[in-house]
Order: sequence, then C-alpha cells, then structure tokens
Amino acid sequence: MKQLTVRPSGPLRGSVRIPGDKSISHRALLLSALAEGASHIENFLPSGDCKATLGCLRLLGVHIEQHDATTLTVHGHGKYGLQPPASPLDCVRSGTTMRLLCGILAGQPFQSILTGDLQLLRRPMRRVVEPLRRMGAEITDTEGYAPLSISGRQLHGYDHALEIASAQVKSALLLAGLYADSPTTVREPAPSRDHTERMLSAMGARLTINGLSTTIIPDTTPLRPLSLVIPGDISSAAFPLVAALLVSGSEVTVEGVGVNPTRTGLLDVLREMGAEVAVSNARALGGEPVADLTARTSGLRGVEIGGATVVRMIDEFPVLAVAATQAEGRTIVRDAAELRVKETDRIATVVMELGKLGAQIEPLPDGFIVSGPTPLQGTAVSSHGDHRLAMALFVAGLVAAGETTIEDMDCVSDSFPGFVELMYSLTAAVDGHP
Ligand code: S3P
Repeated sequence: MKQLTVRPSGPLRGSVRIPGDKSISHRALLLSALAEGASHIENFLPSGDCKATLGCLRLLGVHIEQHDATTLTVHGHGKYGLQPPASPLDCVRSGTTMRLLCGILAGQPFQSILTGDLQLLRRPMRRVVEPLRRMGAEITDTEGYAPLSISGRQLHGYDHALEIASAQVKSALLLAGLYADSPTTVREPAPSRDHTERMLSAMGARLTINGLSTTIIPDTTPLRPLSLVIPGDISSAAFPLVAALLVSGSEVTVEGVGVNPTRTGLLDVLREMGAEVAVSNARALGGEPVADLTARTSGLRGVEIGGATVVRMIDEFPVLAVAATQAEGRTIVRDAAELRVKETDRIATVVMELGKLGAQIEPLPDGFIVSGPTPLQGTAVSSHGDHRLAMALFVAGLVAAGETTIEDMDCVSDSFPGFVELMYSLTAAVDGHP
C-alpha cells in the first residue's frame, strides 16, 4: 500500500476546484437509474466509492455511458427497470452504496446479494435492515452485517422513528418507500444531509417535509430524468481549507463548493474557533446551494461541539481534530459515537495516530478531547485504510516538524482522487515533488 512522506510546508496559496460531492454523486447515479429516460450528470466524482455504485448498477442492467471521467449519461428504464444481477453486488468499501441499494433492492421483484470489502463487512447493517423488515422486506443479514441477501417483494408504508440521525438510513427508507403500497414517513432526531429529498422532489416524486419528518407517497408517475452539475464536495474542501488555516501565511480559495446547510457544520465550528473563512459568489447548482470558500491563516481557540452540529459535520472530525491540536485551549467533541462505525472507529484511530505525532488527545465514549496548542513532531503514522484519516494526517504533516510518513495513502481515492496533486499545486512539500 502506497506510503507518502509529508514535510513542513511553506504558505499555501491559490484558487482550486475540488471533485464533485460524493453523497450527491451516489444519489445521482441511483436515482437516474430509476428514472424514465436519459439523465446527464456532470462533475460526477470518479472515486472508488462512486465507482462501486456504478459497477453495481451496471450489474443490475443499467446502461451508463461514461463520456469522460466526470461526465455520464445514465439510461433509466423506470422504477421497475432494473434486471436481476448475475452475481453478488460488490459495494467495495462504500457504506452509502450498500445502504441505499438495500432500500431500492428490497422492493424489486428479484433476488440480490450485497457484499463488499472486509472494511465494509464490519459496518453495522441492522440499522437499515430492521426498519426495512418492518416494511415487509425479506433480507437475511450475517449477524447484523453484510453480506445481505435480499428477496425483493411488494413493500408496505411505515412510520419510522430513527434513533440516530443518518442520511444513509433515511435515504434507504425513502427509496424503499417508492416501492410501498402506502406512504412511508421517516422521523429523525436531528437533520441529516437532505440530498436524496432534494433530488427526489426535483424528479417529481411526491415528498413532503415537515421539520424533522419526511414522507414519501408512492405513485405510478415515473421519475423524471436529471440534468445535473454536481457541486464540489465540502467534505473534501475541508482539507485544503483547514491546511490554509494552520500553515502560516496561507490563503486558499476553493471554488464551487456545495454549502447545503445540512453539511456546513465544520464552517460554523471553525468560525467559532476564530477561523477566517469567507463565503463568496453564493449561487445554486443542480438544486443545491454552492459558493466559493476562502480560508486565511488564523489563530484558533478550542470549542465544545455536540448536538445537532455533529450530524452536520460527521465526516469532518478527523481534520477538525488536527485543527484542534493547533488551537488554544480544549476542544471537546461529544454526541459523536457514530464516529465509531465509520470506515474505521474514528475516535480510536484519530486518537491513536494524532497521539503518535505528539497531540494531546484523549478518547471519550462518544467523542474526544484535544488540548492545544501542541507542536506536532513528524513520525510514521497509518491511515488504517480510512480515506479521511489519511487526508487529515497529511494536513497534520504540513504543520509537524520533520517528516511525517503516512502508510496506506491509496485509500484517499475512495473520496478524493487527485488530493495529493491538488495539495501540491498549493505548494505543499510532498515526497517526490520539489
Ligand atoms: C452519507 C451519510 C453519512 C456520511 C457518509 C455519507 C450519505 O453517513 O458519514 O460519508 O451519503 O448519506 P450516515 O448516514 O451513516 O451518518
């Protein structure tokens, strides 16, 4: 697995575009496959996770033309246009692929099997399987985990009250609701990302949102195909932006970033920490709010993070932890036990790896505490195969003294192909580059 050495960086300066949003790319593929007609998708994210969704849909008989890495035409044949797959559907390491497909496949008139890499086979699936069973789905799991064996059938509407706020679970249930014989409602404890709802509404599905409760009313009207330009992924923009905040003398603009309010928790928290992050050129793109974000080197102070903010920045905690090591005082993260069931147990792996660099960080059952500021000292660290941890360690390496060698950097392409090159273009001092 590829190893990368990062050295202390000079100022990061410049304006960059980042790849398309991962969550929206998955949904664009899946929903286009259920539409009637050809959907055109631009700025699709050609990452490992999204390619997993693409591969599964091809096995389900969907014709997808790839004009170049980021431009696709998906030929949908309606809600019942999928074909029985000839082999198990490999979701590789993508939880979004597995959970959303599970909702769709539960309502198909055929059998299917969802599987993936060991990392994905360790992630909990009961959270999606059990509510789907309440809708009449027949799914066999492996003690709460994948592989999942699905005998598709007619589903029934259900009123679900979720214990945890999860866009993957919510989306799976709303997609299953397309195949139910009565309305399906999903109630969440806090608002999670709403890309599925936005896209389904734009395609003509009957969806009503009332605070934290979303209802889908199944009908026979076909879903309209999409014509969509996917915004840049704020979860990827987080890395160059935080790097700019921490590396002295930096100013970085990331253009065309999705700023859906269900995703901007990190921006709010960084501002509360004293970060200078400007939002400009706000506009709408593909039914989503988009803007340019500019970060300038800033002195940071510790903050407390909990409650609904956690859901709005659930993927940003590895890089937030790096920022917290350079902030004055204590940063306390609570209500974030979900971090334990991401690509890795991100409370354990973030504490372990930043600890190796000299960070003062200790775990909590549902979060962590970082005391700062601490000078970091480069050493050998590992991503544990977790893309967001790999990129967070890269940012840490830019401010650590000496060399930081990160094991297993290949996983970065699960969400951010071209990450290292993009950071290099901002003059980061990366192994193999001047
Ligand atoms: C995602 C939802 C979040 C997030 C994941 C992508 C999505 O997971 O962590 O990276 O696309 O719906 P949960 O819904 O499990 O919190």
